[in-house]
Amino acid sequence: MDEDSVFWDDAFSVNFELIDNQHKELVRMTNTLFMGCKAGSTAADVAFMKTIRSAVEYAQTHFYTEEKHMQLANYPDLEAHKGEHSTFVSTVVKAVKEFEEGNSEPIALARFLKQWLLNHIAKSDKKYAPYLAKL
Ligand SMILES: [Fe+2]
Repeated sequence: MDEDSVFWDDAFSVNFELIDNQHKELVRMTNTLFMGCKAGSTAADVAFMKTIRSAVEYAQTHFYTEEKHMQLANYPDLEAHKGEHSTFVSTVVKAVKEFEEGNSEPIALARFLKQWLLNHIAKSDKKYAPYLAKL
């Protein structure tokens, strides 16, 4: 753990256990990425790529879960929220490509993920919480 590590706080909770658990897993994966950044060798880069790929895959599964529940709850801002998810996925895919081509540092990618995740949970995910509470 270091200054980049993310600590789960109950303030991040959307009061929906399945989604909270997925968010906790994403936080855990982000911390794994930061740890992978510190080694700074080719082997570490390979490990980083593996982790980033599974993090993106996991994020997509998680987005699907969120979208399904927002739909079930008739959440009125579903389309805008879906838009945030797909913009994130395309941004990360582009960032991973840049990293693979040697045009960016892994730490920049890990920091982007952390910022996006915390900001998205605090601002956008929190908004659907009262709707999911009715499910
Ligand atoms: Fe979301």
